[in-house]
Amino acid sequence: MAIRWTPAFTVGDATIDAQHARLLDQINTLLEALEKGLTDHTVNGVVNFLDSYISNHLFYEEGYMKAHRFPGFAKHKAQHDNFIRRYLEFKKRLAAGNSPTITIEVQDFLAAWWINHIQTSDREYHLYIRDHPKSHPEKEAKSFHQRVQHMLP
Ligand SMILES: [Fe+2]
Ligand SMILES: [Fe+2]
Repeated sequence: MAIRWTPAFTVGDATIDAQHARLLDQINTLLEALEKGLTDHTVNGVVNFLDSYISNHLFYEEGYMKAHRFPGFAKHKAQHDNFIRRYLEFKKRLAAGNSPTITIEVQDFLAAWWINHIQTSDREYHLYIRDHPKSHPEKEAKSFHQRVQHMLP
């Protein structure tokens, strides 16, 4: 099952869109590595990349929502925190060994969570920011981009 970012997933910000595309791409790579029964070394390499990419993305996105004064911020952040908790549990099971169950879990948990989150929750801040021009304070947006520039893909 290949999962690919498509323009229909846009959240109205090119940086975040690029991060989402890269994330889905890496989840795909992980899935392929597991399906082909590749070595733990390969799987660990992808997982290590995913770890830092996921936390960078969530942090970046949370800063973006704050900078635009998105009122659903707390609820959205709680979803991110909940994902991180589940992801850590998933990693423990992955470390225990490659198995058919773990491949299914990558599809059902990792891939499905991201697709669903991007299409529903991330879309909520997209629509809010799009429909509330006052949520774009020039100055704040500028300093926000300066602060997170080193995290851009
Ligand atoms: Fe996101
Ligand atoms: Fe999100």
